[in-house]
Amino acid sequence: MIDTTGPTLELTDEHIMLRDAVREFARREIVPIAAEFDETGEFPLDTIRKMGAMGLMGIEMPEDYGGAGMDTIAYVLAVTEIAKADASHSTVMSVNNSLVNYALLRFGTEEQKQRFLVPVASGEKIGAYSLTEPMSGSDAATMRSRAVLNDAGTHYIINGRKSWVTSGPVADIVLLFTMTEPEKGHHGITAFLVEADQPGFIRGKKEPKLGIRASATSELVFEDYACPVEHVLGEPGMGFKIAMTVLDAGRIGIAAQAVGIAEAAYEASVTYAREREAFGQPIGAFQMTQAKIADMKTRLEAARLLTLNAALAKMRSKQTGARYTTEASMAKLFASETAMFIAHQAVQIHGGMGYSKEMPVERYFRDAKITEIYEGTSEIQRLVIARNELGLR
Ligand code: CAA
Repeated sequence: MIDTTGPTLELTDEHIMLRDAVREFARREIVPIAAEFDETGEFPLDTIRKMGAMGLMGIEMPEDYGGAGMDTIAYVLAVTEIAKADASHSTVMSVNNSLVNYALLRFGTEEQKQRFLVPVASGEKIGAYSLTEPMSGSDAATMRSRAVLNDAGTHYIINGRKSWVTSGPVADIVLLFTMTEPEKGHHGITAFLVEADQPGFIRGKKEPKLGIRASATSELVFEDYACPVEHVLGEPGMGFKIAMTVLDAGRIGIAAQAVGIAEAAYEASVTYAREREAFGQPIGAFQMTQAKIADMKTRLEAARLLTLNAALAKMRSKQTGARYTTEASMAKLFASETAMFIAHQAVQIHGGMGYSKEMPVERYFRDAKITEIYEGTSEIQRLVIARNELGLR
């Protein structure tokens, strides 16, 4: 077990074994198919299933609930390795692990854990998290979808349209946030566990995206979906709190994803700078390239450390109950802007080849952008960090 009381960043043997096993799996199974799935936009179900079989869809969940029983450092290392091979795979993995599993573990009843967490954490079923709506993104509390308790008090009848749902086209189980008492503002939002095979659950328009093209994203439409009251997660009115609490964990996953994309773009650049010659020498011999490499490497390692720091803060919070909101937002903000910076430099170092689909750097460039947007834009991360530091709400 890693010591979470001090500022140690030593990896245990178990962490190293996991990281190396995931790296080998990703090199063998994901790298060869990544470009093709990016091109077609097809969902890579086979490799996602294999990741489930390896325990990667429930890394931090207890073994009793279908998970691998590991810690947040292990989760960060694994997401980074998968993202380094292909960001799309890591998107599906991150949402499943830190938004869906974590919500169920933290707020679910024993019955909900058995019914929903076990299949999602074991990779048998795919989970999705649905907060955003066409007219409600960063200002998440302004949602228009509604759930109304029926006269018998047995079911909530849900109507409305959600958007930008990662894994929406393939998910079996969705953690859905919708308004039950609009007059109460964010205190009127409730979290529901909804099942895709029930009447009134409609998969809407698939989003045609710039990057992470193999991770399916769509709208979800609810038309008189009847959700049993037993499938409310937490208490009615607790939805916004649950959404925010699990986004703290989710943002660590996105930070880890950004580190993986950045590492892939950085390593490709070093290789290219050594091999590609111009004016009679490798381009890495020119100081303008060297400055890029130095800045890329420095920011990459800083992003990695901030991400591991957020993971340690989450692990510590298990004992102390303290929130790790600021650490998660700092990691996500810095790592995502680093991924964008490094991917941008990588394209520049590669020149024309960086702009070509014959090499993966143009994919890294497109994939990096989403990390500055989803699970809270960079603007929202800055707002969260500053509000917490200044003691404002
Ligand atoms: N943990 C626990 N509770 C929290 C919290 C946190 N991190 N952040 C806020 N809260 C609580 C507050 O304590 C407060 O509770 P009380 O009223 O009971 O005291 C309540 O939530 C409201 O807080 P605020 O007044 O700060 O709320 P706000 O309306 O000003 O908004 C916000 C805050 C930070 C801007 C928030 O709306 C936010 O994070 N927006 C971004 C949403 C987002 O990340 N969306 C992405 C969705 S997922 C996705 O990208 C797609 C996918 O599939 C992955």
